[in-house]
Amino acid sequence: MEKISIDDVELHLSAPDDVSMSWVGQEDLVTQVLAAWLVIGEDDLPLSPRLLGKPGVGKTTLAYHAGRCLTRPVYLFQATMDTRPEDLIVTPVISEQGKIKYVASPVVSAMIKGGVAIIDEGNRMSEKSWASLAPLLDSRRYVESIVAGIKIKAHPDFRFCTTMNDDASTFELPEYIHSRLQPQIYIDFPERDEELLILKSNLPFADDEILEYVVEFLQTAHEANERYSVRDGINIARYALKRLVESGERLISTDRKKRTAQYLKEASSMILDTTASEYFKAMINDIDKEK
Ligand SMILES: Nc1ncnc2c1ncn2[C@@H]1O[C@H](COP(=O)(O)OP(=O)(O)O)[C@@H](O)[C@H]1O
Ligand SMILES: [Mg+2]
Repeated sequence: MEKISIDDVELHLSAPDDVSMSWVGQEDLVTQVLAAWLVIGEDDLPLSPRLLGKPGVGKTTLAYHAGRCLTRPVYLFQATMDTRPEDLIVTPVISEQGKIKYVASPVVSAMIKGGVAIIDEGNRMSEKSWASLAPLLDSRRYVESIVAGIKIKAHPDFRFCTTMNDDASTFELPEYIHSRLQPQIYIDFPERDEELLILKSNLPFADDEILEYVVEFLQTAHEANERYSVRDGINIARYALKRLVESGERLISTDRKKRTAQYLKEASSMILDTTASEYFKAMINDIDKEK
């Protein structure tokens, strides 16, 4: 663990996240995040955007990808209902020698290294926890660690964003927090061709047929205002593919087509619900008609 010293207090830094998440399509959304982070003059400050959207539309992926575009280390912090202010800043840990060791959170590690901090699912976190970040998210750009008794200033390259689910799992955040998490960038369901690209990039080993079925399902569902997202589509395709391989089938085209649709239907009822599997049932009927 890397160590640094602030006011004679030794801090152990968290490591950045190195995950394979790459954003596909809707380039404009990446541009919107990067623009928010720009500093265009001496007295200018970067903004800290809030990425809002339904579960599974790609908020975390977009935040991470945008962070990576800056070629700075990216630190992800998963917010929960139980996140305490000190979890966001500095936590004391008992070391092997029985001494107290101060561990900097991913946010503080990003502040020190000039990296990007992403608070994922920030809507799950209480006002009390958000309040501890209030000075960081305005022109002061610092946090105070009560536990370690130090004030920590953000590196000029430090950038911040948060993702929030557009559903009922939200803590109602007060205006002073909302006003610091601007602009709000809304992520909607992608268009058909983009959704197909997303499926392809996440499932490069899948054949086109299965991806076409899944994108058809997703697009029809989006139109009907269902909540099913590309994440659900990826999970369904992934499981149906595993079923195909597990059953050891080297099927010839027509049989394989129907079997694929059947596995998709089964996967959709296991991963989602019967409403979802109805979409695939309709596809199976169409295949039967073709014959
Ligand atoms: N535009 C996109 N490009 C690449 N992958 C995407 C995109 N949108 C969604 N995904 C994929 O969908 C899944 C859900 O995305 P995620 O970022 O976790 O959604 P959210 O954070 O909104 O719940 C992930 O597997 C991700 O790889
Ligand atoms: Mg997410």
